[in-house]
Amino acid sequence: MLLDLPERPRRNRRFAKLRDMVRETRLHASDFVWPLFFHDLAEDLPIESMPGISRLGEKSLLGACERALKIGIPAVALFPCLDASLKDVEGSGATDEENLLFRTLRKVKARFPELVVVTDVALDPFTSHGHDGLLSACESTVDNDRTVDALCRMAVLEARFGADVVAPSDMMDGRVGAIRRALDAAGFTDTGILSYAAKYASAFYGPFRDAVGSKIGRDAICKSMYQMDPANCREALREVRLDAAEGADMVMVKPAGPYLDVIRMVKNASDIPVAAYQVSGEYAMIHAAARQGWLDYERARDESLIAIKRAGADVILSYFAPEVAAR
Ligand code: PBG
Repeated sequence: MLLDLPERPRRNRRFAKLRDMVRETRLHASDFVWPLFFHDLAEDLPIESMPGISRLGEKSLLGACERALKIGIPAVALFPCLDASLKDVEGSGATDEENLLFRTLRKVKARFPELVVVTDVALDPFTSHGHDGLLSACESTVDNDRTVDALCRMAVLEARFGADVVAPSDMMDGRVGAIRRALDAAGFTDTGILSYAAKYASAFYGPFRDAVGSKIGRDAICKSMYQMDPANCREALREVRLDAAEGADMVMVKPAGPYLDVIRMVKNASDIPVAAYQVSGEYAMIHAAARQGWLDYERARDESLIAIKRAGADVILSYFAPEVAAR
């Protein structure tokens, strides 16, 4: 039988080169930001729940930055892992000019001035309780306005020590505007703000909290009083609208894979670049299934990333960045 079809979409799928030609979305090394964990020890320490990822010593961290540039990744995001003895309830280490983050930032920018360096603005690497901010008097939640004050001081120091883009990941209200004003007042009008605008209270951050040690005992701490409810989508637009109005240069959706609808909505609603963070748990899941022989590692990895880009992400933070960029 011969069907009388005016259109046969399969014609464009016949063989590899033809498929290459009509492909709508492509990953490029320049799409990525590579998140890097580092600590104050000389040797690297593998993170068990993130195969292939370690907390890096200084030498390896600088090596990773060099590698990023070599393989065309334009940016790194720096995540310090502090010794527990340096953390306190107030996260006071966050504004210590000699803390691990600032020392490292100065070295990275001195060695690689052309690399875009992104630093988180949040207190969680520095607080003994692991929250992103300062606890309220009753200790049942995080105090918004007092936290914003600390974040502004942290962001100004990050800018001073070389951060090109500061990335508030704390989800306090009004922090983008406050940080913008603090940066401007300190003369850092050119330092950008990548706001973690739609950051969900997600179970997929588990391995990251192992990595930075922001876990208290075995239990995951609950950040639902400030991070978004995974059930909400319109609320993401509200967060994005506010952050853009307060002066964000880019907005982020996080996690990425389980929130592709949110990425698309944000993309359609805003005129600033949209970033998406493929978080630690998304990375760990693909590795875990591949280790069991249940998924083809490379195909699952690439599909997860192309989906994020297809959904509308202009910038992708991913632990897969170096292996994908280097191909
Ligand atoms: C915290 C922060 C988190 C991540 C980046 N910054 C975790 C959290 O909110 O607890 C998660 C990244 C990942 O899971 O890869 N400021």
